[in-house]
Amino acid sequence: MEKMSLRELAVPIIKSIDSFNYLLKSHHRHTAIISWHIGKKMGLSNEDLFELVVAAAIHDIGALSVQERDLLVREDVINPQPHCIMGHHMLKPFEAFRQIAQIIKHHHIKYQDFLNMADGEVMFQSHIIHLADRVDILINPEEFILNQKKRVLEKIKEKVETDFHPDVYAAFDEVSLSDIFWLEINDLSIDDLFDRIDANVDFKLTIDNIMDFSLSLSRIIDYRSRFTASHSYTVAYLAKQLGKYFGFSDEDCQKLQVSGYLHDIGKIGVDPGLIEKNGPLSDDEFNHVKLHAYYTGQILKNLSRSEWFKDIVLWSQNHHEKNNGHGYPQGLDDSVLDTGAKIVAFSDVISALMENRPYRDSLPVDVAFNIIKEKIAPSISLSMFADIEQHKDEINDLVVTCHQHSFEEYELEDMLN
Ligand SMILES: [Fe+2]
Ligand SMILES: [Fe+2]
Ligand SMILES: [Fe+2]
Repeated sequence: MEKMSLRELAVPIIKSIDSFNYLLKSHHRHTAIISWHIGKKMGLSNEDLFELVVAAAIHDIGALSVQERDLLVREDVINPQPHCIMGHHMLKPFEAFRQIAQIIKHHHIKYQDFLNMADGEVMFQSHIIHLADRVDILINPEEFILNQKKRVLEKIKEKVETDFHPDVYAAFDEVSLSDIFWLEINDLSIDDLFDRIDANVDFKLTIDNIMDFSLSLSRIIDYRSRFTASHSYTVAYLAKQLGKYFGFSDEDCQKLQVSGYLHDIGKIGVDPGLIEKNGPLSDDEFNHVKLHAYYTGQILKNLSRSEWFKDIVLWSQNHHEKNNGHGYPQGLDDSVLDTGAKIVAFSDVISALMENRPYRDSLPVDVAFNIIKEKIAPSISLSMFADIEQHKDEINDLVVTCHQHSFEEYELEDMLN
């Protein structure tokens, strides 16, 4: 299989968090830029800088649930621990991101606490992100940035040696003298920032590490809400299984699994309040929820450069298209939609109906299949549904197993303590 750069793999994650998230918009990019300036000043190697920037660009990945979203953009983060541990837990399955996961785990590390911790537990980059994150929180987007230099610097200085590592502060103190440091916080793009880091971190793709990578991405979405904690995971295994029923090769079944993991990644751009709403959505709200399929395409677009990912990207972004052309976002019809896209679409609805929702309990397989037969299958494929129905019992077992597994993972007792 081909090689991809780690940068190419990181960009979908960064985009999903920074560009499309309605709430934390630009905070991650700003933190990455501030971190880069400080890291560069401290003489970090290109590899260390690369990890620093990726970690900074996704540092709050673990905090996208309804409960935590409001807490982070405050001046004092009251209990940062859960989102740090959750971020670590989401990313660590993907081997290439293990260091990045470790950096994120301690991105709110207070210098005083660090002094009592075991050697090697905290990566140096965590200290940099901690300070950079607080700098961005102190900046008022309504006010001209150069007029804020003094105030921000003084505020940070108050907490050197209690909260912030003195060496990181010293580097920040130096870089902050120049106007360019402040001006770039708003103006630099993530691509421009990566262009400055001469790190050739290639990654050899294998089926195993693609699975790990996609699982990491799926957790960004699934873990945002208790109600969806098993969704993409279940869709992934269902799609793989349906692929077998329809005679797909082993490799194509694996692609279907990856597509299941990634299909809803665009939900990162949708207010989780809508996903958790206890009742039917209004037309306006539904218009917002529909955006997720478009965002999925936008986020995964870069991956299409790899031949191996081409079908996966199409199947994922087309999972709400319908054979009559009334789906979204493109309104494609049966002349374009292939069996793979329909498999992902069926897996999505089976999984969704058999999950708990705020307004209803999970539906038993018979009820779910009846609803699909009457209301959903006609607009995807009735003949495919007839084949799928033959395997109802097997599908039920698979869904139950996937739900159990995901909830065990989600609730890992020690994870949130
Ligand atoms: Fe944070
Ligand atoms: Fe979806
Ligand atoms: Fe879905």
